[in-house]
Amino acid sequence: MNHYPVEDLREIGVNVLMDCGVPEKHAATAVEVMLAASLWGIDSHGIAYLPVYVERIKKGVIDPKAEPGVVTETDNTAVVDCKNGLGQVGAVYATNLAIIKALANNTGFVGVRNSGHFGMVSYYTLQAAKNNCIGFAVTNAPSSVAPFGGMQPLFGTNPVSFAFPVQAGPAVVIDFATSAVARTKLRNMVADKQEIPEGWALNKEGYMAKTADEGYAGVLLPAGGVKGYGLAIVAEVLSAVITGAAFTKNVGGLVDDFTRSQNVGHFIGAISIESFLPLEVYYQTMHRFIQSIKDVQPMPGHEEVLYPGELEHRKEITRQAQGIPVADALMEKIKACAQN
Ligand SMILES: NC(=O)c1ccc[n+]([C@@H]2O[C@H](COP(=O)([O-])OP(=O)(O)OC[C@H]3O[C@@H](n4cnc5c(N)ncnc54)[C@H](O)[C@@H]3O)[C@@H](O)[C@H]2O)c1
Repeated sequence: MNHYPVEDLREIGVNVLMDCGVPEKHAATAVEVMLAASLWGIDSHGIAYLPVYVERIKKGVIDPKAEPGVVTETDNTAVVDCKNGLGQVGAVYATNLAIIKALANNTGFVGVRNSGHFGMVSYYTLQAAKNNCIGFAVTNAPSSVAPFGGMQPLFGTNPVSFAFPVQAGPAVVIDFATSAVARTKLRNMVADKQEIPEGWALNKEGYMAKTADEGYAGVLLPAGGVKGYGLAIVAEVLSAVITGAAFTKNVGGLVDDFTRSQNVGHFIGAISIESFLPLEVYYQTMHRFIQSIKDVQPMPGHEEVLYPGELEHRKEITRQAQGIPVADALMEKIKACAQN
């Protein structure tokens, strides 16, 4: 495992994608989103996905040259067609559109269809927060999670993110899969058959899986029972039912099916804070709100109470200084992408 400066990884990543036919501006966008996740310590959704996207481009199931475009729109809403390009490219396009609409007309909500895996959801909500908006985003994903009470996969891990800007500190950024565990995380634990906590997954027979390989071969469970199940439905309806993307079992696989495109859907929203209250008042009140969280006495074994987004911000400071750790095997794969 070596640490690489962000700039080096950016250059490698952009060159690899450009070699596959991705225009420079789109390559830069996709790599930016991947590196944001790597900087935040979300290694499962960072630069590690580069070889997967490259393989999908080479197999012809991602169109490297696709230009996203608006299908329908109003002052506050739009549907964007990603045209089977890189998910990050369509999602950044949609995020920018949602922010423009929110700043002009108070709110902007943009759905995306014909898209692909777009990585860490909070990248998109954070862009809204950087523009004095509240960011909201969901996506659907390949079927791997059982509905509550079921033992067959139906939903994707369907992550949800919200971001709220803070003036004198990192934004509050909530971002998690609605499954008990992100599928990529479980996949990364399969090789050494690591034990997994009860409630993460069922084995093939429908009983609680005890190890990662059993769970990966079986089915993931929703986070928090009916609560994650409900949120998975929210993500699926917003991302796919109202955008025209594929839903549940029709979403194409990402790492286990290179024969067809995914047709993933996303739903990205921005709400202008100023449409509710003067920004100054918001930031002062938010400061007091955060302080009320920070004032809570930590439970034994915890040094402080953190809010979502704080840990990631700290990780980013460390990784900007020390570089991003990349496993040797992954770097070999990335180099192989560059050579082929
Ligand atoms: N694109 C896709 O299809 C897809 C699918 C699934 C997951 N993902 C991404 O995978 C990533 C990981 O998802 P996950 O479900 O494993 O997330 P997770 O279970 O690690 O939860 C992360 C959330 O918990 C917060 N958090 C963690 N520790 C905390 C603490 N001590 N105090 C306060 N808050 C804390 C984080 O700030 C973050 O909001 C996310 O970025 C998600 O967007 C993407």
